[in-house]
Amino acid sequence: MQKILQEAIDNNRHWTAHGAVASYIPELAKENPDALGVCIYNIDNTTLCAGDSHTKFTIQSVSKVVTLICALIDKGKETVFSSVGMEPSADPFNSMVKLETRESHKPLNPFINAGAIVCTSMVQGDNGIEKFNRIHNMIKIMADNPAIDINQSVYRSEKLTGNTNRAIAYYLKGAGLIEKDVEDVLDTYFKLCSIEVTALDVAKMASVVANNGITPWSNERLMSIEICRIVKAIMTTCGLYDSSGQFSVEVGLPSKSGVGGCIMAVAPQNMGIAVIGPALDSHGNSMAGKKVLEYLSNELNLSIF
Ligand code: DON
Repeated sequence: MQKILQEAIDNNRHWTAHGAVASYIPELAKENPDALGVCIYNIDNTTLCAGDSHTKFTIQSVSKVVTLICALIDKGKETVFSSVGMEPSADPFNSMVKLETRESHKPLNPFINAGAIVCTSMVQGDNGIEKFNRIHNMIKIMADNPAIDINQSVYRSEKLTGNTNRAIAYYLKGAGLIEKDVEDVLDTYFKLCSIEVTALDVAKMASVVANNGITPWSNERLMSIEICRIVKAIMTTCGLYDSSGQFSVEVGLPSKSGVGGCIMAVAPQNMGIAVIGPALDSHGNSMAGKKVLEYLSNELNLSIF
C-alpha cells in the first residue's frame, strides 16, 4: 500500500507544472507550486502518507464541509435547505449570477461561496466569534488535533481582498437569507477559510465521515448517519464545483476541494484521504491532487460507482 501511495505521488508530480497557485488571495500566491503530498487515515486507525505530506496549508473551501455539518446539527435539514439548495451549480465557486436569476435567490448548494456564507450564518452562536468557535472546535475534534488554528497572514489577506465574497454576502442579506450582521458573518467565513492544517488533519476529518460520523480513534459519535449521508451526497455532486461531474467519472469519491490546494476525499466504510498540491486547475481544484486521487481510486478500486 505504501508503494502505491509513493507511485501516486511520483507518477503524477509532473502535473504540478500544469497548474498555478491561487493569486486572487495575495498571501496564497506564496505557496510552493511544486508541493505534492497525500495522507490516508484508515478507519482501523492506521495511517499512510507520501510526498510532501507535512506541508501546512489553509483549509479554504474544505472548511465548507464542516460548516455544513454544524449547520445541519444545529438547525436540522429542513431549516438548512430552506435557505440553501442541494443542486450542482455548473458555475465557478464564487459566481453570483444565479443568485439573482433564480426565483428564491437561494444559493444553489452549500459548497459554493454563497451557500457556505448562508450556512455560516445558520450555525449556533449569538455572534461571529461564537459561530467561528463552534466550527473551529468541530474541525479540531474531527482532526483529533487541538493545536489547529488560523493562519493570521492569510486571514488578513482574505479580509482585505475578499470583495467578491462581500458582494455575495450583501446580496444575500438583501434577499433575507443571512441571519444577523453581515460583516460579522463574512469575518467568520474569512477566518474559517484561513484555518491552517496538514494532510493528516484533513484525512482524519474525512475518516469520521467515512466511518458514518464516529471518530475511529475514540469511538465518539460526532454526527448522525443521516448527516453523513447528506454531506457525502453533496460532496459527490458539488464538491469540485463545475468539474464535479468529471471528477466523479475519473475518481468517484465524495470529495471537497479548496484553493489552498487540498482535496478531502471520503472512501465510505474504509478511509479518509487528503491530498495537497497548491498548483490549481482553472476551476480552483488541485491539478496534481486530482491525478493522485484518480491513481489511488484505480489502484485500490475505490470508486463508489
Ligand atoms: O472565499 C474564497 O474565495 C476562498 N477563501 C475559498 C474558495 C475556495 O477554496 C474554492 N475552492 N476550490
